[in-house]
Amino acid sequence: MNSEKGWSKRVLSVLCCFMIMSLLCECEANSSADTAERLSSKGSHILVAYFSATGHTTSIAEYAAEILGADLYEIIAEDPYTEADLAYYTGGRCDKEQDDPGARPGISGFVEHMEQYDTVLIGHPIWHGQAPRIISTFLESYDFSGKTLVTFCTSASSGLGSSAKNLYGLVPENAKWLESRRFPIGAAEEQVYEWLDEIGLAAEAVKKGMTIQVTVNDQTRTATLSGNASAAAFFDLLLNGPVTVEMHDYGSFEKVGPLGTSIVRSDEDITTTPGDIILYLGNQVTIYYDVNRWDLTLLGHIDDATSENMREFLGNGNPFVTFSIPK
Ligand SMILES: Cc1cc2nc3c(=O)[nH]c(=O)nc-3n(C[C@H](O)[C@H](O)[C@H](O)COP(=O)(O)O)c2cc1C
Repeated sequence: MNSEKGWSKRVLSVLCCFMIMSLLCECEANSSADTAERLSSKGSHILVAYFSATGHTTSIAEYAAEILGADLYEIIAEDPYTEADLAYYTGGRCDKEQDDPGARPGISGFVEHMEQYDTVLIGHPIWHGQAPRIISTFLESYDFSGKTLVTFCTSASSGLGSSAKNLYGLVPENAKWLESRRFPIGAAEEQVYEWLDEIGLAAEAVKKGMTIQVTVNDQTRTATLSGNASAAAFFDLLLNGPVTVEMHDYGSFEKVGPLGTSIVRSDEDITTTPGDIILYLGNQVTIYYDVNRWDLTLLGHIDDATSENMREFLGNGNPFVTFSIPK
């Protein structure tokens, strides 16, 4: 009898343990799912983290992540801001937080692998001329030593003011801050690109292997852009929409055609390889299917190109070649 009781006690305690463990696992799974939902990862070395209460900063953050091929993370308040909280000059929650430089509203979730990012962009609305205090919480939650940081913001009318500089003291001194930008509500992607280009991040992203598409008839191949100002300018051009170039054979080693505009040259003594996308004289674009040596600008290279597959891709006649940014 006693041993039966002992056995059922043991079964009961095993069952209890099992239930507790599955509950714990479920909580853990939910919390990492929450974290994952807030982070849209492309495995980039650049992170765009943003807080947005009414959605205006979201679109700027999305443009920046798209241009830079960056991961995107939404900073979400543990205690969500209600309409009443956001009503300013009412003595409500936001007014109180902004009045108190020590306020640190909690964040729900976290960036699991902050160490993978060397550059972090931080987006926020302007609240009473400053970043919301939840941005201070974010900056104090991770080790930003040695990282490149930059803020961007949206506001109804206020400028950047001291909003960016007031955050500098919250991270280690060896973090490198780039110049912040305030955007008006509804700013366009081109404005975001211009800013990223000015602070050197757009070219930096290109340098790290930005891809474009090259289409002839119904065949599309991907190409990786080079790390030079010309490749950044070419990418900038494609941001306005796809560019189609009618090409013809030249010298039995390339197809060439007019770009329709001039972009900055970064000429070097180059020995071409099949698949090279070259800028010639600043206003013509060529695709190589064989070898040549000249002072040329290497815009990029079609992935997995060989002399044979480039000849086949470009065909015998005068192809219309379309360059575009992948959707
Ligand atoms: C509490 C609070 C304070 C604000 N203070 C300012 C301000 O000082 N200057 C300004 O131009 N806009 C101010 N705004 C407007 C927001 O900056 C603007 O609507 C912003 O684009 C909102 O971004 P979001 O939609 O990403 O939250 C304030 C908004 C709130 C809710």
